[in-house]
Amino acid sequence: MPADLVAPLKKLPLPYSILSSRGSYVLQSILAYGSGGYVFKSHDNSAIKIVPFEELSADELFILTNIHHPNLIHAFDHGIVRLPLSVAQYYYFFALPLAPHTMQNISIKDVSFAQKIHWIQDLYCGLRFLHEHSYVHGDIHPKNVLINSRNQAQFTDFNLSYNVADYKTATSQICTPPFCSPLSLVNNEWVKDPLQAQAIQLHCDENIKRRLHDKCDLFAFGQLMTWILFSGDSFLMGSGGIDDIDSYVCNMIQFVSDEQQTLVTYLQQTIVKHHLHEQLLSYGMYNHSTQCTVQSIVEIMYKTLRVKQHDRMSIYELDCILSW
Ligand SMILES: Nc1ncnc2c1ncn2[C@@H]1O[C@H](COP(=O)(O)OP(=O)(O)OP(=O)(O)O)[C@@H](O)[C@H]1O
Ligand SMILES: [Mg+2]
Repeated sequence: MPADLVAPLKKLPLPYSILSSRGSYVLQSILAYGSGGYVFKSHDNSAIKIVPFEELSADELFILTNIHHPNLIHAFDHGIVRLPLSVAQYYYFFALPLAPHTMQNISIKDVSFAQKIHWIQDLYCGLRFLHEHSYVHGDIHPKNVLINSRNQAQFTDFNLSYNVADYKTATSQICTPPFCSPLSLVNNEWVKDPLQAQAIQLHCDENIKRRLHDKCDLFAFGQLMTWILFSGDSFLMGSGGIDDIDSYVCNMIQFVSDEQQTLVTYLQQTIVKHHLHEQLLSYGMYNHSTQCTVQSIVEIMYKTLRVKQHDRMSIYELDCILSW
C-alpha cells in the first residue's frame, strides 16, 4: 500500500463530518492505524473504516456489503468521500458496528474455557459461510477478530480476501506470520520474498492454485484455535519481528522433515502445560453432548496445521468442532 495515499488520513482534522445518503458520521477519534486505511470512532458509536479509493479492494467491498452472517462484520453504510486532505484523492468509507474488543486486546488467559469454545465455534461458522460463498479470508489472526457487543466473535478485515475463482488477485499476498500458511514452501524452504513466491505460484496450474488457496485459511484457523485455547501461547507467537519469522520458518521446516512427530508432540506437551485435559473434561460434562477428547483436539489442530496444503483438512471436515 503506497504510504502517501494512507498517511494523509493521520492529518484529518477531528471532529470531522462525513455525509452519506443515509446520514452523517462525526469522526471523533482514531481507533486504529491500519496498513490499508484508518479506523475512526464516530459520534454514534460506529467504527468508520476509511481507505484510499485507489486501493479499495473489490472483494472487501463485496464481502462487507453483500455477505451477511453474524460472525462476519457487515457494513451498514458505505460510499465515496472527499476529505480535506488532497485535491486529487478520493476515499471510500465503511460504517461498521463498533466492537468493544478485538481478540488481540482482551486478556485471553482470563477467559473461561467454555467462552473460548463458543468463540471458536462462532469463528468456524463465519469462516465456513465465507468459504461457502467462495471467498478466502486471507489474513486470519487475532487482530482481525472482533468481539461484538453481543459477545459474538466476528471476522473483520477482508482487505486480503479473494474469490477462489479469481486466483489472479491472490498470487502476491502473504498474510501475517505466524498465522500465514506456508504456502510458498518449496523444496523445504519457505520463500520469504513475495515476488519470488509469486513467480513460483504463477507456474502452478489453475486447479493446484485453487486447492492451495482454499486451504490457506485453514492453517491460519488452526493457529488461531491454538492461540485462543492456549491463551496466546501459540508455538509460533512472538513480537512479529524478523527473528520470529525465522524461527517460524525453522519450525515449519522441522515439520516437513518429521512433521507428524514434531507437531503432535508439541501439541500434546502444550495440552499438558495448559491443563487442557481437565478443562475439556469439565466442559464435556457441562456440554452434555459428545465429549471432546484431547485426542480429537490434537487431531483437529494437527490436520489444520499441516505444512503441505493438500494434506490439510477442509473447512467442512471441521464440523466436529460444533459437537464440542
Ligand atoms: N468494527 C470495529 N470495531 C472496533 N474496532 C475495529 C473495528 N474495525 C476495525 N477495528 C480496529 O481497527 C483495526 C484495523 O482494522 P482493519 O483490520 O479492518 O484495517 P486494515 O487497514 O486492514 O488494518 P491492518 O493492516 O492493521 O490489518 C482492527 O485490528 C481493530 O483493532
Ligand atoms: Mg487488520
